[in-house]
Amino acid sequence: MTKLLITGGAGFIGSNFIYYQLKHHPQDRLICLDQLTYAGNIQTLRAAMKQPQFRFVKGDIAQRETVFSLFAEEKPDIVIHFAAESHVDRSIADPGIFLRTNVLGTQVLMDACLRYGVLRFHQVSTDEVYGDLPLERTDLSFVETTPLCPSSPYSASKAAADLLVGAYGRTYGLKTTISRCSNNYGPYQFPEKLIPLMITKALSNEPLPVYGTGKNVRDWLHVEDHCAAIDLIIRHGKPGEIYNVGGKQEVSNLDVVKTILQLLQKPESLISFVADRPGHDLRYAINPAKMENMFGWQPQISFSDGLRQTIAWYLEHQQWLDHIVSNRYRAENDAVPKA
Ligand SMILES: NC(=O)c1ccc[n+]([C@@H]2O[C@H](COP(=O)([O-])OP(=O)(O)OC[C@H]3O[C@@H](n4cnc5c(N)ncnc54)[C@H](O)[C@@H]3O)[C@@H](O)[C@H]2O)c1
Repeated sequence: MTKLLITGGAGFIGSNFIYYQLKHHPQDRLICLDQLTYAGNIQTLRAAMKQPQFRFVKGDIAQRETVFSLFAEEKPDIVIHFAAESHVDRSIADPGIFLRTNVLGTQVLMDACLRYGVLRFHQVSTDEVYGDLPLERTDLSFVETTPLCPSSPYSASKAAADLLVGAYGRTYGLKTTISRCSNNYGPYQFPEKLIPLMITKALSNEPLPVYGTGKNVRDWLHVEDHCAAIDLIIRHGKPGEIYNVGGKQEVSNLDVVKTILQLLQKPESLISFVADRPGHDLRYAINPAKMENMFGWQPQISFSDGLRQTIAWYLEHQQWLDHIVSNRYRAENDAVPKA
């Protein structure tokens, strides 16, 4: 039995990763540490909480005493670090919390890993640390050695954390890996991010806000493919290595929005162009050749299938969505006692 400590597991990718682990490695013990910020949702983990090998702990990764006492009690083998402030627009409005959680929180976790002899610390990072690519240079993509050049306070905080992870490996000998992935989509994504936001707006016949011209291109990765990649890295990846994980499905934001409207049989007149985001990255494209060569990993879900499945999921889980849109989920989160 391996003990995995998963931070940020009440958020989008972390919760999908927990369900992936319960399905593929039911013998392992899973401990989720999550502060249940506005981006976390305890309802998402209700099914996991019925499983005997799963434990949820409400706590802040940047609080040393909370983290150290949990590590002392559980002695995890592997830490998979998802917890973060993750929304670019919020980082432009208020960068401070991004530095606290994303940089200092990562430091606290790695200090605990060193103290309690954790065998592997895995940092879940983003392609946004590389900055962006010109729209017209479709021949270019990010590789693991592309220099870091973040554009937003969010991506700068993730880049800073990545550098700290590398330094903890080199200086203290902590066994670390980093994965940098492109834009994820799929079930349980908070409806402030592009795809669930547009689905939510379209369902209620509200205007769909598109930044600038909508020509910005993202490389879409289904969250299930991302979880499979992380699972391979934590079990077979080499300490000190960085792995790029991308979906090889580049689509402009405007085309994403138009496809959602088409699939929901809503008119394009709902699209409303709004002032562009400051510093808005033009294009992201990940080259995942290292993942393919090292592990034979390939994204399995095409964007057109994945988007259909995702829309179907949100239609089937309207209660989950309503709970968030109406803000009722905050009361449920607040009712969970702190560690
Ligand atoms: N969503 C994407 O497309 C994407 C793409 C690339 C990388 N990433 C990275 O993947 C990770 C997970 O992203 P996500 O989209 O699931 O994020 P999310 O915003 O949906 O979830 C973040 C989770 O972290 C928790 N959290 C925040 N601050 C905390 C703290 N101080 N202590 C404990 N828990 C805290 C929140 O409660 C929430 O449950 C992040 O590190 C993000 O940078 C995400």
